[in-house]
Amino acid sequence: MQIHDVLIVGAGLAGMRAAVAVPAHLNVGIVSKVHPVRSHSVAAEGGINAAIREDDSWESHMYDTVKGSDWLGDQDAIEILCKSAPEDIMTLERMGALFSRDAEGRIAQRNFGGLGYPRTCYVADRTGHALVHLLYEQLLKRGAHIYEEWYVTSLIVEEGVCCGVVVLNLFTGELSTLRAKSVILATGGYGRVYLISTNGLINTGDGMAMAYQAGVPLQDLEFVQFHPTTLKSTGILITEGARGEGGYLFNARGERFMEKYAPNAMELASRDVVSRAEYQEIMAGRGVNGCVMLDLRHLGKAKIMERLPQIWELSITYAGVDPVEAPIPITPGVHYSMGGIPTNTQCETPMPGLYAAGECACASVHGANRLGGNALMETIVYGRRAGEFASQYAEQHEIKPISETHLQKEKEKISSIMSRKDGERVGVLRETIGTIMAEHFGISRTRERMEAGLEKLKAVRARIPNLYLQDRGNIFNLELIDALQLHSIMDLAEVLSAGATIREESRGAHSRPDFPKRDDENWMKHTLAFRTEEGPKLEYKPVTITKIPPAERKY
Ligand code: FUM
Repeated sequence: MQIHDVLIVGAGLAGMRAAVAVPAHLNVGIVSKVHPVRSHSVAAEGGINAAIREDDSWESHMYDTVKGSDWLGDQDAIEILCKSAPEDIMTLERMGALFSRDAEGRIAQRNFGGLGYPRTCYVADRTGHALVHLLYEQLLKRGAHIYEEWYVTSLIVEEGVCCGVVVLNLFTGELSTLRAKSVILATGGYGRVYLISTNGLINTGDGMAMAYQAGVPLQDLEFVQFHPTTLKSTGILITEGARGEGGYLFNARGERFMEKYAPNAMELASRDVVSRAEYQEIMAGRGVNGCVMLDLRHLGKAKIMERLPQIWELSITYAGVDPVEAPIPITPGVHYSMGGIPTNTQCETPMPGLYAAGECACASVHGANRLGGNALMETIVYGRRAGEFASQYAEQHEIKPISETHLQKEKEKISSIMSRKDGERVGVLRETIGTIMAEHFGISRTRERMEAGLEKLKAVRARIPNLYLQDRGNIFNLELIDALQLHSIMDLAEVLSAGATIREESRGAHSRPDFPKRDDENWMKHTLAFRTEEGPKLEYKPVTITKIPPAERKY
């Protein structure tokens, strides 16, 4: 059993930034089910938003973010994000971040969707990769204790206070406890609740699910972002930077269809607007083999190779298309979880001792629709803040004694899965849930379609106790990890679908043809889902509006 002042679960950008913010006199541990540089943040492509120019301002960044959120974002949290962003970018720069430069040698910035100013800083189209490696170096320098390839199975809660986690060491299969004065969840999103997603296979929402199982509600899970440009059939992300650099979209008739949907912003409207437009074009029979086309040819080879080298490579490798020569076939694809574990602006969850930051958290800076480039900034600003506030908590509290039962309960859970002799295979159930979510809780959601989805999910839930594993070994039993992740996916699918079915309006990424308008009178509120034996129980809480009154969104 190990003891830390601050323990962080998840070693993507938010988790590593939190660890680096913990003062040197405190003992920090960081647990990750993968090696830190394999965390999903590494796949972020296009950039990170900050108002760093004299003719830009945090107020303008805040306005764009609130509008992008379709007025579901909490404005106190958004203000902190936008005000802090410039200084946090400079801190990354001082740490050694290799941002692309403009002709004058300044940090280069590009256009992104929903922005009124080109304020997305970037490292070509490998921004996440550059920042993950930067923070990993800082983590090593900081001397954090890294538990890499350890899987957290549950939170340890004593008298309502979080005081550690139960972990499975993948190298040995051994279960043990890690105790801490404060715990930060930075476990990323749940994109893999859906079958196809831009997310890595590891994005199964485990942190959200373990908080939910420990009695913490989950907020706004029905708001799932579909990115407008994912590569045909694969879910591979084709960065918004491609449109930011001047790429445009056209349909089977060769029309730049965004003219009809967002005549001012065109391809750089917010993601929910562009994805819905593509969906409508495809459903109206104006798609090209179920896709629309992204054209970069007019940018020329030199610009593509300088600014979008990874997109060039991915298109050739996975679609057989050289974007210098031909348009890229793309579709909207599941990309980001706007909802998550509710926190205040100090990253505190409703459970004392438990903090959350990054995609698993819901502060809520993204509301009903996130702007591209704001997720990375959130990981950095709120990751840092989580490290700072969890450290203050650790300085003011003692380590708590814990009961033996936490470990025992997890041992029994795992041995019951391992001992079953036959039943259902994990992969089959995971694929079934992913398919139901894609078919019934996609871009366009009608009551009929969602209610049919709820019935199908109920039927899958009944099959979960029959899970069985072929791998009975202790060392790197990835089938066991898949089974544990399946429990997370099941819980989150239920929360998401319950919230979506009940919300009778269209707001941001939640789009209902049967309730096509935003309804501020009845629905300008956050969903909170509490776990009960009968399934999620929903409550609501108000949105924080401080500076920018609700208005109609037009792009
Ligand atoms: O399109 C992209 O590069 C993705 C960026 C983001 O999700 O913020």
